[in-house]
Amino acid sequence: MRAFVCTLIFVIQIALSYGSLPLIQYKCWTWDSACLTARAQAITPIFTAGFHEIGTERLDPMFIDAVNVKDQAGLKFDMQNVYIEGFKTATIDNVSIDMNSRIMRLVFHADLSIKSSYTASGYLFSLPIFGHGDFSMRYDNVLTEMVIPFDIIKDTQGKNIINLKVYKYWFDVRGGGQFHLGNLYNNDTISSKILNNILDKNVVQDSIKV
Ligand SMILES: *[C@@H]1O[C@H](CO)[C@@H](O)[C@H](O)[C@H]1NC(C)=O
Ligand SMILES: *[C@@H]1O[C@H](CO)[C@@H](O)[C@H](O)[C@H]1NC(C)=O
Repeated sequence: MRAFVCTLIFVIQIALSYGSLPLIQYKCWTWDSACLTARAQAITPIFTAGFHEIGTERLDPMFIDAVNVKDQAGLKFDMQNVYIEGFKTATIDNVSIDMNSRIMRLVFHADLSIKSSYTASGYLFSLPIFGHGDFSMRYDNVLTEMVIPFDIIKDTQGKNIINLKVYKYWFDVRGGGQFHLGNLYNNDTISSKILNNILDKNVVQDSIKV
């Protein structure tokens, strides 16, 4: 997610100040949310493929080596070799920049699918869980909103550039979701079917705040 945000912001920044990449033919004013949103939308399929010229990585599929989740209810869920697909067809709903409060806001929605291997232990929805195998998940219409405070600093050529600080994001799963955890409970298919069903039902009802 961080790579996605950083690249998108980077490209928006280019749109704001230079218009020098052939892909971005005209500049936007910072107050012109409609222009910023349209530019971000136009370049999303392109920048998610990665820009060789400026060395950005490929974002769709996005690869993350490891994600480790530990929750207070006692679930330990580790994912390895995580691939996330769907950013390239994301719809950018809103990009706005408030220069007074120095906050950038980005809203987009996308259908996302995630594949990885996993190791799970502990409790999930009060049920014991353990397993190690393939994990896949698909979410339809995930709406993501990001709020990104920034500073304006001078770059080495003395131009003003936006320097991002810590960002926050929320996402809300509006469509359906599907989960699959392979080889749960050492191939006890009945329990794993039950748990897979519970996951399908529960997870989509919650909006997840990160
Ligand atoms: C984006 O959101 C801002 C603030 O809510 C609003 O003023 C602006 O018109 C929106 N832009 C678009 C393109 O919908
Ligand atoms: C569970 O089943 C899968 C596929 O049939 C197999 O690859 C895996 O080794 C099995 N795991 C155990 C612990 O028996």
